[in-house]
Amino acid sequence: MKISYFLWFFLAFVSAKHESYSGWKSYYVTPSSMDQIEILGQLTDSLDLDFLIYATIGREGLVLVKPEYQMTFEDAMEDVGISFSVHAEDVKSQLDKDDELMISRRKLNRKSSQGEMPYDDYQTLDVIYDYIDTIAEKYPNLVTLVTPANSFEGRPIKYLKISSSNFQNDNKSIVFLEAMIHPREWLTAPVATYSIHKLVENLTDSELLDKFDWIILPVVNPDGYVYTFERERFWRKTRSTDQHPSSDQCPGVDINRNFDFAWNTVGVSNSPCGESYAGGRPASEVETRVIRDILHDNLPRMVLYLSIHSYGSMILYSWGHDGSLSNYALPLQAIGVSMAEKISERSLPDFPSYVVGNAKLVVGYQMSGSSHDYAHSIGVPLAYTWELPGLSRGLMGFHLDPKYIKQVVEETWDGIVVGAKAARELFGK
Ligand SMILES: *[C@@H]1O[C@H](CO)[C@@H](O)[C@H](O)[C@H]1NC(C)=O
Ligand SMILES: *[C@@H]1O[C@H](CO)[C@@H](O)[C@H](O)[C@H]1NC(C)=O
Ligand SMILES: [Zn+2]
Repeated sequence: MKISYFLWFFLAFVSAKHESYSGWKSYYVTPSSMDQIEILGQLTDSLDLDFLIYATIGREGLVLVKPEYQMTFEDAMEDVGISFSVHAEDVKSQLDKDDELMISRRKLNRKSSQGEMPYDDYQTLDVIYDYIDTIAEKYPNLVTLVTPANSFEGRPIKYLKISSSNFQNDNKSIVFLEAMIHPREWLTAPVATYSIHKLVENLTDSELLDKFDWIILPVVNPDGYVYTFERERFWRKTRSTDQHPSSDQCPGVDINRNFDFAWNTVGVSNSPCGESYAGGRPASEVETRVIRDILHDNLPRMVLYLSIHSYGSMILYSWGHDGSLSNYALPLQAIGVSMAEKISERSLPDFPSYVVGNAKLVVGYQMSGSSHDYAHSIGVPLAYTWELPGLSRGLMGFHLDPKYIKQVVEETWDGIVVGAKAARELFGK
């Protein structure tokens, strides 16, 4: 009796978990022209659309639509001739199914992985933090663990500095990679931990430490990350409640709209309840300030900054707030393409090939206060927002099937290496 009571309670809890997405639908949309992309961009604000995968010309995106906007959304798609279809009739029940799959997978795969990072499943914050703590302890001559601040809810924000010369050699170029600005993008942290693995535990190219210093921040937003596991799968913001009188009901700020560059001008929400709320002031969030300070402290030697997101198979660069090109547009495009080409050598036929370009022109949506625009504006020559591949039609619910994680981290690392070397050729000492 006791057991069945417990089970009943557990199932009830699981199904209550995604209640806030009850009645939401997700749609595939496939725009076929620049005009249609622009229209999707405009509807994003007016219908409060939430793109999980940005659409671009001829490539379908995946978008969440709240119940109150679904009729207007479908009418608008028909009016302007954008082809669309329903992905999940009820987002909440799809999320419940995703959870069941994850739980059954965990049971099958349970194993003791002492200090080793497996790449056959998504990882909790504890597992990621255990891993980077262990790496720092095991390789003290190579790795420095830095905890610059605590998150709004008091979790440490941790990053690793990896260097064979303790960051003391001014001839080396610095590469900075961070992940999980948007905590629902679970595929991004494994890319960061795998990069650590390839630099520290399995270095196969000595140039990467002879000529470079690395800064790797696997979880920018630990509060949000924990929240996506425990409460709302699609949480995208921080968890701060001090930005606005309504922040108690609607916590959080979109870190990728919170940087001090054209802050709060376009592609943001002014309401704390919006998914892209820019915050009460520039760099209001401690998580934003951690990235900002890393950029400033290492600026003279930093040649490449990668902000890892998912999904979309896109490598995007400045300027995202108005679609104009920076003075470095040529190298930004050329090196973006060489990273994408390297990846395509070993990518899977199921994965869409990468699109490289100006952020606003590729996705049709202006955004201000983003991290790559900020980094570029203060002088990082090559700064990218990197959208990892998602399978779109092949998504298992809303996850990329964990069996693809290994493929993604390996192919992405190949691209990062090519980008780092090319960045040093052009901008290193
Ligand atoms: C940096 O490069 C300069 C010029 O090539 C060289 O003289 C110097 O020894 C190098 N410094 C280190 C620490 O390797
Ligand atoms: C180290 O990396 C190489 C190349 O990426 C791979 O072939 C090899 O299996 C790896 N070794 C270990 C012990 O992981
Ligand atoms: Zn993102």
